[in-house]
Amino acid sequence: MSLDDVLARIDDNLPAATDRLLELLRIPSISTDPAYKEDCDRAADWLVADLNSMGVEAEKRATPGHPMVVGHVGEGKPHLLFYGHYDVQPVDPLDLWDRDPFDPEVQDTDKGRVIRGRGAADDKGQLMTIIEALRAWKEVKGDWPCRITFFLEGEEESGSPSLIPFMKENAEELKADVAMICDTGLFESKTPAIVTMLRGLLGEELTITAANKDLHSGMFGGIAMNPIRVLSKVVASLHDDTGRITVPGFYDGVPELSEELEAQWQGLAFDHASFLGDVGLSQPAGEQDRTPLEMIWSRPTCDVNGIWGGYTGDGFKTVLPSQAHAKISFRLVGTQDPFAIRESFRTMVREMMPEDCTVEFKDHSAGPASGVETDNPMFEPARQALSDEWQVPAAYIGCGGSIPIAGYFQTILGTEPMLVGFGKDDDQIHSPNEKYDMESFHKGIRSWARILDALT
Ligand code: BES
Ligand code: MN
Ligand code: MN
Repeated sequence: MSLDDVLARIDDNLPAATDRLLELLRIPSISTDPAYKEDCDRAADWLVADLNSMGVEAEKRATPGHPMVVGHVGEGKPHLLFYGHYDVQPVDPLDLWDRDPFDPEVQDTDKGRVIRGRGAADDKGQLMTIIEALRAWKEVKGDWPCRITFFLEGEEESGSPSLIPFMKENAEELKADVAMICDTGLFESKTPAIVTMLRGLLGEELTITAANKDLHSGMFGGIAMNPIRVLSKVVASLHDDTGRITVPGFYDGVPELSEELEAQWQGLAFDHASFLGDVGLSQPAGEQDRTPLEMIWSRPTCDVNGIWGGYTGDGFKTVLPSQAHAKISFRLVGTQDPFAIRESFRTMVREMMPEDCTVEFKDHSAGPASGVETDNPMFEPARQALSDEWQVPAAYIGCGGSIPIAGYFQTILGTEPMLVGFGKDDDQIHSPNEKYDMESFHKGIRSWARILDALT
């Protein structure tokens, strides 16, 4: 039985594979919200049962947070590990969804057939591409291509707090020749790609307190310090007029692009006008002396993700609030040290506090950037397999997002990660009306079959 037979089986299985994905999408496995703890557990159970049904020895493994799903099957070189995450982002704002986020459906749109629902693209649809490829392989060939380990996580969207200890405790079991991570996208929604650079992430939350209670802004306005005014000044001072970030020492460890990468990226001819145009924008807003691709792949950022305080309800209230809050994140590149930047940021903010204001900080995620060595002998065959499926040469690209586990595979297990995914720029991951194109799902499954064939 040849690769073509496996590909044909994948085509035949597509309706059933879609039904399985819809089932998984119905489980609201929102990892960050404790109200959905049982649902995360149910999603893990669903995956264990699905893997067991195709003959993989899989089990749910407890952690202090949501469980991991680990499965093993097959033998022989190479040992391939497959990673995906079954947790999803919260759905709010719910009123911007056209349907219940956890009542997924297949829809025909003017841009083709899509699977709509929370987690369709990030990451349930993507992780099922791997499972479906292996299911079809086993059905057709009667055996597995090589030794395979499945490693599915339920905390990726909340910073993977249990991952490091779990990987350390189970290092011997999880060590593989390569770790395939299916959680990234195509380049410009059409070119298959292997991601070789991921940005790191540092999350900080701050609360500035002035008076010990909310005040009447007539009675106290003018004499009392307003913490929102102080917070606004902090936020406004994080970038200079050229878009550079002002936190002292922030750029330590930020490398310049190698000439080779610069030339490669030039060759990709990224259409930033269309990338921005799709979301109603036109002007690249990062450091002014950088190209658009550098801004999203190889330069660090600072963004305010949320800011609140005072009265924001309907109508109007003349309040002088006691507290002001913000959530701020930094995307990191090269060898930027998240912990050093956290300290420097906090010192900078503390020094900006006027008399009578105090600031408190809360840690969120802190993970460095990671880079992948493409001279590993598995990369070129995998790239060729992707090119064959999509009928366009696959590209090595960067990724502006963060997938903390990629770096942990390298540092904890000594296993090189390979990041391949099929998401499109308009999938609306983390946003209302998330979708995954049927093309991504179908060709994604076929791509894995070709990669398995190329590597074994
Ligand atoms: N799958 C994404 C990472 C990603 C984003 C890949 C955009 C390709 C394009 C992943 O699930 C994610 O959302 N990561 C978070 C980090 C996490 C700690 C919440 C991110 O990048 O914000
Ligand atoms: Mn993801
Ligand atoms: Mn995500």
